[in-house]
Amino acid sequence: MLEEELAFANELADEASRIGLSFFRGSFDVRTKADETPVTEADLAIEAMVRSAIRERFPDDAVLGEEGGAKGEATRRWIVDPIDGTKNFADGIQVWATLIALAVDGRPVLGVVDAPALGERYEAVRGQGARMNGEPIHVSRTERIGRASILHAGLSDWLDGEHGAPLLGVLREGRRNRAFGDFWGHMLVARGSADVCFEPELATWDWAALEVVVEEAGGRMTQFDGSALAHGGSVLTSNGALHDELLARLRLPR
Ligand code: IPD
Ligand code: CA
Ligand code: CA
Repeated sequence: MLEEELAFANELADEASRIGLSFFRGSFDVRTKADETPVTEADLAIEAMVRSAIRERFPDDAVLGEEGGAKGEATRRWIVDPIDGTKNFADGIQVWATLIALAVDGRPVLGVVDAPALGERYEAVRGQGARMNGEPIHVSRTERIGRASILHAGLSDWLDGEHGAPLLGVLREGRRNRAFGDFWGHMLVARGSADVCFEPELATWDWAALEVVVEEAGGRMTQFDGSALAHGGSVLTSNGALHDELLARLRLPR
């Protein structure tokens, strides 16, 4: 199932990687968007390429892209973040990826996460497991927060928020903590190199592809209150075994 779509998403990732690396290793323009976040020439070139390829190959499908917005109405929708980790890309840090997902009736069912400067490509289709560079990946078996390696994107994102105190408590208790942001923290959980990753706010294009990979690798992704991921909502990624305990720790007093 979805063999043709997965092959297509991998072709898109090949081309995105070529475009992304050609800018990353050279010079490029960086512009500040209305929401005060940066966008580079590479983001725009990759998204334009992806949109045009989808239009040609699957003209009936809808598209949602970070830079170009939503186009079309259909049960099938491709969701694209041309470069996740644009600030890293602009600063010359290798942690950036093109995220491509296909959602059917609103549920992501296929995800490709391509990080060419790291040499890592993750892919998954619902029911078919997750792979990195073609090899199956699986989450860790860690069952106690005290043994867990816990990741987050950056302290300033959440320290002053309503979950600041409980998250800090979890970090203190964990075996280890590191700030590895963007797609990468979630992929490190998917492949069992870390146990937990949290983000206070992600858009649909930030989490759609990650969700398929993490869940197919045996992990869980929800908002901090345990509800399904939503546009602009929080994200708690775990190896699954730790999830319920983490949700209990993050529950806010009524
Ligand atoms: C960002 C990353 C990051 C998250 C930010 C996003 P971008 O995406 O996903 O992890 O903390 O909220 O904006 O802008 O680099 O595609
Ligand atoms: Ca993003
Ligand atoms: Ca982006």
